[in-house]
Amino acid sequence: MLCVTVFCVLSLIWGGSWCEDLRFPPGFQFGAATSAYQVEGAWNASDKGRNVWDIMLHNTPSVTADGQSGDIACDSYHQWRMDIHMAKTLGLHFYRFSIAWSRILPTGFSNKISKDGVGYYNKLIDGLLRSGVEPVVTLYHYDLPQNIQSLGGWANPLIVDWFADYAGIVFSHYADRVKTWITINEPLILCDHMYNVGDIVPMVKEDLLGPYVCNKNVLLAHAKAWRIYNDTYKPHYHGKVSIANNPIWLEPLSEEDEELTELAREFGTGRYSDPIYTEQGGWPPAVEEIMAEYSKKQGFPYSRLPSFTEEEKKLIQGTYDFFSLNQYTSRLVRAAHEDETPGTWFSFGSKELNVVLETDPKWAFSDLKMIAVTPSGMRRQINWIKERYNNVSILITENGFATRDPGLYDTQRIHFIREYLREVLLAIKEDGANVIGYTVWSLMDNFEWMFGYTMKFGLYAVDFSHPLRLRTPRASALFYANVIKHHSLDNHSPEQYQHLKSTNLKSNNSSPATISIKELLLIFILIHVIL
Ligand code: BGC
Repeated sequence: MLCVTVFCVLSLIWGGSWCEDLRFPPGFQFGAATSAYQVEGAWNASDKGRNVWDIMLHNTPSVTADGQSGDIACDSYHQWRMDIHMAKTLGLHFYRFSIAWSRILPTGFSNKISKDGVGYYNKLIDGLLRSGVEPVVTLYHYDLPQNIQSLGGWANPLIVDWFADYAGIVFSHYADRVKTWITINEPLILCDHMYNVGDIVPMVKEDLLGPYVCNKNVLLAHAKAWRIYNDTYKPHYHGKVSIANNPIWLEPLSEEDEELTELAREFGTGRYSDPIYTEQGGWPPAVEEIMAEYSKKQGFPYSRLPSFTEEEKKLIQGTYDFFSLNQYTSRLVRAAHEDETPGTWFSFGSKELNVVLETDPKWAFSDLKMIAVTPSGMRRQINWIKERYNNVSILITENGFATRDPGLYDTQRIHFIREYLREVLLAIKEDGANVIGYTVWSLMDNFEWMFGYTMKFGLYAVDFSHPLRLRTPRASALFYANVIKHHSLDNHSPEQYQHLKSTNLKSNNSSPATISIKELLLIFILIHVIL
């Protein structure tokens, strides 16, 4: 006993985790995620309509890093059996995927429902359920029907009803089997990032009203969809619905910046969550005040942050069954110096708040430089949500690591997932947070938006030069399968996967990953031996 105690004390002193209880609570669920445009391909299959990506990338391919589009992507429209096989092999409790709006409603509107579109997701959902993997379905993941974009997209208030129509139709087809729903993925990207920076499709930069009008419309659209499910489907099927938010955890650079940092958190996370999760509803009051003052200074006779009517506030307030959290990274916050103009929100700062966002020179980064490796931000973000939103249950719906290297021995990814999961455990065990599950982004390499195929997030590597888009498990897939199998982070370390070094893929970006059948067989045998 004494030996054990001494061992543990030494472990604590050296910052080790030998005596930590690294088991997840019973019922904790593990999943992996993708989204329609990033994996499906089949951009013109059957009567599918065109979305904003189809149009922009066919007209101007040069906007993506490699000039590529999601026309074929992982070809999941045809290779969905492989996707289910991977999910099953990993032992996933759930697979989060999204439905392509324009595949279900070719015009974007409710006048026509595609039989083939509906059929595709029926096959996927039924196949997952037969394999014991729960489908977690996102209704909208950045792939707006072009018709709706042509009418102003998320800046047109009519989108609220168009989205509600679409949501109602999707629920009517799948709610009998799908029990967990996400209405809209990451409004911080589709409103704040898109309208402030304009560098993501549909590439509309309008930073005065764009982010805020979009913010309000997204909340109303989500709320209407939630209410349709709640009133019509929940009584029969008892499922749950949320909206996926992706805050960047914000940490003050110094003690003096604490108050400003909290304001920035309210500006980033609160603006998308307070109206839904707080008892009083509506915008965070401090943000509302700052926006009103700033708008006045700019000569606006009204606030750029549109107000809610009492009816709208009530419509949105309480429209959640859990908090869907996509958590990747952190930034440091400080006040802008006197002669300094803050960069654009949300990556570099905010002129409205007079805030600058920085990274710590000591932080490591993924190859996608936006993602600084900051596991402690996961625990702090969870705690912020827990405190602010009355210990709401939290499902982590995305977290993952990007590399340019397509290699199979992806120890950095293993390290990233392990460290973030450790913080999730600490949040649950030490802080009493109600985190119910965790999702890796992504199940497989896919079309990484403006980065095309140059960034890899997959537990599985995808050979984008192969007609079947072959998928090959990386070391991180073996690691994650072990975590799921043992329901614990115990006894897993990157060194266990050394054998994959010899089966590494070419790490040259320009030449797509290839792997011989012999190597593929060897990997599958290894997975089965290990599991
Ligand atoms: C998005 C994914 C994206 C991932 C990595 C998330 O914010 O939901 O679509 O691929 O980040 O950039």
